[in-house]
Amino acid sequence: MRILVVGQGGREHVLVWKLAQCEGVEKVYCAPGNAGTAVDGENVPISSDDIGRLMSFAKHNDIDLTVVGPEAPLVAGIVDEFKQHDLNIFGPSKAAAQLEGSKAFSKEIMSKAGVPTAGWKDFTRLEEAHVYLDAMETGPVVVKADGLAAGKGVSVCSTIDEAKDAAARMLREQVFGNAGSKIVIEECLEGQEVSILAIVDGDTIIPLETSQDHKRAHDGDEGPNTGGMGAYSPATLVDDKIMDDIIRNVLVPTVHTMRVEGHPFSGVLYAGLMLTPAGPKVLEFNVRFGDPEAQPVLMRLQTDLAQVLSLAATGRLSELEGLSWDERSAVCVVMASDGYPGSYEKGRPITGIEEADALSDTKVFHAGTKIRDVDTVNDGGRVLGVTALGDGIPAAKTAAYQAVDCISWEGGWNRTDISDKA
Ligand code: AMP
Ligand code: GLY
Repeated sequence: MRILVVGQGGREHVLVWKLAQCEGVEKVYCAPGNAGTAVDGENVPISSDDIGRLMSFAKHNDIDLTVVGPEAPLVAGIVDEFKQHDLNIFGPSKAAAQLEGSKAFSKEIMSKAGVPTAGWKDFTRLEEAHVYLDAMETGPVVVKADGLAAGKGVSVCSTIDEAKDAAARMLREQVFGNAGSKIVIEECLEGQEVSILAIVDGDTIIPLETSQDHKRAHDGDEGPNTGGMGAYSPATLVDDKIMDDIIRNVLVPTVHTMRVEGHPFSGVLYAGLMLTPAGPKVLEFNVRFGDPEAQPVLMRLQTDLAQVLSLAATGRLSELEGLSWDERSAVCVVMASDGYPGSYEKGRPITGIEEADALSDTKVFHAGTKIRDVDTVNDGGRVLGVTALGDGIPAAKTAAYQAVDCISWEGGWNRTDISDKA
């Protein structure tokens, strides 16, 4: 089997690494990839948004399965285009990807499906948004750009004035362009956040092991929001009863409603959930593996991933007899560039990756890296996802940070408390 992975982050590196180990997999390409995917697979210099060239590559290189990492090509319709050309691809259609591509669409599906989520209302006119906010007595309240905004479209506002400013930036100043021409204003939920991902083939749902991300930049959940500074699996907060609740009240009704609405969902359904005193509530749906959640979760997966994704892509997930998992825990610590999530310098040589990789049950997944001459250099905000397995979360954490200690570059930094919430 010949596989093409689309994307260039840590999520794509773990996908390439895992798929390359599967039975019957002859070759894994990654477009465009990073310095890590070039070692575990072969990079192809095509951007993840260039659907035409990706399709042509898949055709001319006898690709049996394409796996899409990021949301943008999914929302742009890569799956529909590949399928029209009889190319096998894992991921949701353009219509189903609206679950992530439009917050208002996803809220409407949740309302129809009876899925517990924060109370909400959508607006395209600033005056109406301001009237609605003025009618609220106090914050906190959450303002979201409807469309994709590279993870920056959510403002959690502690006061009504702050929320009015956020609405004005989106609707009047158009800081997110068209993605902010509609906004969703919603109730602010409190509790611990967890990520529940499931593989879906339109009908059958297979939940993956649980994980928890760390979205804030600094220790103790301080600082600005980021793409995610580290994750661990399992998320011990989610016991069997909570998991059962999530499957019954979130995953099943969502997949059912998407089918009834004429947009059957196939791919990874990622529910970002808040564990509130009133039970788990959905903060957002994503339509792809989480990054960095994919790193610790897939490091624990023992079932053949190529087989799972192939069956899902062809609507045959029910043939699978569940998934098997490494009983150990996994912790992934993200190492980032100086200045991230703001602007940062690129091109600084990184040392110690090989030493870290040589530690047992440890893998350094590359996110924003590239090769320059003989050096591996930083080439993005999130640079590496250093991931280790251990007997229990504390042991996995110790192992991951031992590996982090081997690695350095000018300005490289990381949180020191990943997994402490467990
Ligand atoms: P998103 O970009 O949709 O992943 O949201 C980013 C982050 O904003 C989430 O991970 C939460 O921490 C926070 N968030 C989103 N919606 C809410 C909400 N209704 N209440 C509280 N926090 C929220
Ligand atoms: N780690 C959050 C995300 O993938 O959206």
